This record gives sequence, structure tokens and C-alpha cells, in this order.
Amino acid sequence: MDVTDSSVRQASPQDAAACIAIYRPFVENTAISWEIDVPSVAEMASRITAARDTHEWLVLEGDGEIIGFAYGHALYRVPSYQWSVETGIYVQLGCHRAGAGRKLYTQLLRRLTERGYRRAFAGITQPNEASNGFHRSFGFQDAGLYRRVGWKNDSWHDVAWMQLDLPRTGNPEEGPGPIL
Ligand SMILES: CC(C)(COP(=O)(O)OP(=O)(O)OC[C@H]1O[C@@H](n2cnc3c(N)ncnc32)[C@H](O)[C@@H]1OP(=O)(O)O)[C@@H](O)C(=O)NCCC(=O)NCCS
Repeated sequence: MDVTDSSVRQASPQDAAACIAIYRPFVENTAISWEIDVPSVAEMASRITAARDTHEWLVLEGDGEIIGFAYGHALYRVPSYQWSVETGIYVQLGCHRAGAGRKLYTQLLRRLTERGYRRAFAGITQPNEASNGFHRSFGFQDAGLYRRVGWKNDSWHDVAWMQLDLPRTGNPEEGPGPIL
């Protein structure tokens, strides 16, 4: 897959099956995804719609095939956290380290910034050098570590959190504006 010829677009519910195909191995074989069961097509479609409404869900497409997806949703559903987004990204196995993730996250973070979100957070099951390095390459900084927070595949897993200021005003201390 040549990532240079691929392009990022907003996802639609019709992309749910393609997103599941990318996501499935990470659910079934790793603790990178915190889910135990692969979501149904209907469930994935509803996640896409919900994320699009409030935050964003993007796919990277090349040659008619979806290579990866990235999304944002509420970090925690309380009013004072409404400017803080949890982000996620999955690139098709076999297409890693070819720039697909960078293409997706560049657009995702831009779009979330445009909408008025001020902070992005990523929870990364450890170890995951690819995701740690990937997030650091965007300027994400270590925020802390949840120790033994998840039980999956017969063991406990630590989750490192990383965060990034989305620099709408240039001053991270400045108060937030409306979410668009
Ligand atoms: C993390 C992930 C999305 C990165 O996507 P990708 O398309 O492979 O990444 P890119 O090729 O765009 O890399 C962009 C930068 O991220 C960093 N990076 C990517 N993979 C890395 C790795 N294996 N080790 C260290 N740094 C890495 C590098 O700085 C890289 O820039 P460079 O190639 O110019 O050095 C991908 O590895 C993936 O889907 N992993 C499985 C799912 C996952 O872990 N998702 C995140 C859950 S928190």
C-alpha cells in the first residue's frame, strides 16, 4: 500500500466494516485495545456517527481501501472536562511506519483544534513503543501511568497517559471558547 497516494476524509457509518477489519486484530490479539469483544458493524457505525457529531472520526483511504482511522471523543463526560478529548488511532497491520498515522493525526488534531477543543489525551497500554513514539512525535507529553488498570489476555496491564495542548490561542492558560 502506497501511503503517499492516500487521502484523509471524514468517515461515514458505511465505513464501519472497514474500520472493524483494521481494529479486529488489536482487539483479539493484543491489549492495545481495551475491548474484549470486537464491536458489531451497527455498534461501530453508531460510534462513527457519535464521534462525527461532537468531535471527529477520520479515515485514510488509498486505492479504494481504508488503511487506518482516527477519532476523538469526550475524555470524561462532565461539563468542566468538555474541552478535553481522548484520541485513538489504528493503522492496518502491514502498513505501519509509512506515514499513514501522521497523515491521519495531523488532520484529526487540526480539526479538533478548529472545533474549539483545547487538550488531547491518549491512553496507551504498555508496552507500545510505536504508539509512545508516535504520540511523542506530535508533542504529546507524559501525563501519568495507571498501574494494572486493565485485565485482558490473562494479565494486568498498565496504561500510560499522554497529553497535548491544542494551541488555538497560543496560551494554554487562556479560558476556553465555545465548541463548534
Ligand atoms: C501507533 C500507530 C498508529 C502509528 O502509525 P504509523 O502509520 O505506523 O506511524 P507513522 O508512519 O505515521 O509514524 C509517524 C511517527 O511516529 C513515530 N513512530 C511510528 N512508529 C514508531 C515505532 N515503531 N517506534 C518509534 N516511533 C514510531 C515516528 O516518530 C514516526 O516518524 P518517522 O517514521 O518519520 O520516524 C501504528 O503503529 C498503529 O496502528 N499501531 C497499532 C494500534 C495502536 O497502537 N494505536 C494507538 C493506541 S494508543
